Amino acid sequence: MSNQVMELLESNNLVKVCAPMVRYSKLPFRTLVRKYNCDICFTPMIIADSFVMSQSARNNEFCTNAGDRPLIVQFAANNPEDFSCAAEMVAPYSNGVDLNCGCPQRWAMKEGYGAHLLKKPELIRDLVLQVRNKIPHPFTVSVKIRILEDIRQSVELCQQLESAGVSFITIHGRTPAQRHQPINIVALQTIRASVQLPLIANGDVKTLQDAEELQKKTKCEGVMAARGILTNPALFAGFCVTPLDCVAQWVVMGQKLETNFQIFHHHLSFMLEKIMRKRERVLFNSLKNITDTKNFLEEYFNLDFSQTVCSLTAVEECNYENVTNDFRRKNVEIMDSFEDFLENSCLYVD
Ligand SMILES: Cc1cc2nc3c(=O)[nH]c(=O)nc-3n(C[C@H](O)[C@H](O)[C@H](O)COP(=O)(O)O)c2cc1C
Repeated sequence: MSNQVMELLESNNLVKVCAPMVRYSKLPFRTLVRKYNCDICFTPMIIADSFVMSQSARNNEFCTNAGDRPLIVQFAANNPEDFSCAAEMVAPYSNGVDLNCGCPQRWAMKEGYGAHLLKKPELIRDLVLQVRNKIPHPFTVSVKIRILEDIRQSVELCQQLESAGVSFITIHGRTPAQRHQPINIVALQTIRASVQLPLIANGDVKTLQDAEELQKKTKCEGVMAARGILTNPALFAGFCVTPLDCVAQWVVMGQKLETNFQIFHHHLSFMLEKIMRKRERVLFNSLKNITDTKNFLEEYFNLDFSQTVCSLTAVEECNYENVTNDFRRKNVEIMDSFEDFLENSCLYVD
């Protein structure tokens, strides 16, 4: 059995990756960037705990279709059970799962998610191993990290992850405390020289040329773009600004996939950032629905939506029943043994 992700990462070609982005790297956007030479897409970070427990969280947070591959589903998790159960649930509908070890937001750190895990290599190892033991190859288990102040700690972490059987690592070349500073290329080079598994370098890729230069400097197998690909979903196809055909496709696709209007509008706002003048932007920001948005784009950008061809594969129906039942059964077992313990213990007071 083959896995497109590992085949790509072992191919010696530059692998172009769309980053996990909360709110934005959802099915419609992934469909768009795949049309413009993006090789692998990540979902936004999904909280594993809620995903496992709640059907409505699953419906809200994850949807895919047969064309949406290779796909990596990223989770925020702080214990092996949640991560491995969430991984089992999405395994039939994706190529791999990724553990977020880079989110620096205060709420995430407080819950033990994201960059909080960078200082807990043993726990990351347990999380990864539990998935690896439950779901066989070629399904991938990867980790996305930020670098640490002391680069030796990042090297050690990556070596530990490699020996735990991680399929690949994505490295955002900033520390959790850094926001807009340039990425640390030397750190990426040092990590590259210290491990054998495939690496994806991330940070400040705004054009195809940036992507090629980052790969050349770091020798990483892949490069990942977040803000750059939001402003220009066609960047991996070599466009320097968003081509109008890409804008038209987004509109037609957003309509077909019934994207939430606010998110749909945010995306357009990013894509048109470099081509919209101030007066147009004021008007654009006041738009309230898709019809008005289409009229605006027809008038100001001469877009002709009747000429836009956009075929879409139907959204896949995801069935999580078997796994949820297993998980419930496990919880019931835990509760049963806890009850037994209480009954047999001197702590138990009737
Ligand atoms: C809007 C937005 C949402 C993001 N959401 C996530 C996320 O869900 N998971 C994650 O690991 N990183 C997330 N990130 C961080 C990016 O994946 C990436 O690591 C970071 O932006 C640096 O890449 P860039 O310089 O290409 O933007 C997000 C970034 C942005 C701008």
